[in-house]
Amino acid sequence: HTGAWDVPPAERAAHREGALLAAEAGWEVLRDGGTAQQAVIAAIVLMEDDPALNAGCGSVLCREGWVELDAALMTGERLEVGAVGCVRDVKNPIKLAAALLPQEEVLLVGGGASRFARAQGVPTCPPGSLVVPREERRLKVWRERHPADTVGAVALDARGRLAAGSSTGGRPGKPSGRVGDAPVPGAGVWADDTCGAAVATGWGEEILRFSLARRTAELGREHTAEDACWIAMRDFQERLQGRGGVLLVASDGSLGWGFSTSTMAVALMAAVMDAPRVEGISEDP
Ligand code: GLY
Repeated sequence: HTGAWDVPPAERAAHREGALLAAEAGWEVLRDGGTAQQAVIAAIVLMEDDPALNAGCGSVLCREGWVELDAALMTGERLEVGAVGCVRDVKNPIKLAAALLPQEEVLLVGGGASRFARAQGVPTCPPGSLVVPREERRLKVWRERHPADTVGAVALDARGRLAAGSSTGGRPGKPSGRVGDAPVPGAGVWADDTCGAAVATGWGEEILRFSLARRTAELGREHTAEDACWIAMRDFQERLQGRGGVLLVASDGSLGWGFSTSTMAVALMAAVMDAPRVEGISEDP
């Protein structure tokens, strides 16, 4: 998905296209025998490199005027997580999260995360290269604008392994040092082979307080993925008037998504389908 928020009409085609290309990239990995983890990384790298989306290059700016990125990767077999927060100089934070996944540490932030990137050979970049003019303009008017978006992906591979990943520049108007839901296991990302893999998107503080991704995945034990997302979003709105969305692949392979915002571009692909399709956003206002 490319984020749940009020995507302006002029940006909708780009969101549809970004989600579709990501689903295709993830699907190619799975079709060629790759793992769910590899598929999630492939999908998210494409979305991080897409300047239309709020992840990697093109991310929203913090109040101080620069990019601070959060990302996480989680695998469902052994509940392993690699997560990074407030990273200013890494083009593909999902690759940094993947490098951390086998390590003891779960979450690295700021300068420590950048040092880890250099030690691991994960490419770094000048921080200014991640800033796009659209976000400089948006920062000026952020108080009047929409909530937040994020990119995320979930996958189930042929061996029944689940993975979930998310990557974001956070929400407009955030102060430097703020970490949102995206890199926090249970909030923005959750994968457990016994129930499902889920990613959340939207206003990070509300998602953190609600543990939206884990709640949704756990609901997948008793409900279809579609019902699990619907119930989770209903509860999210009832308790917190939560703004955002969630995407779930349950361990039985069922897919679901739900959102309380006006749009959330989701691209889906499964073995029973001929080609990926996009849901949750039309190009019309
Ligand atoms: N959901 C992205 C953020 O609030 O950081």
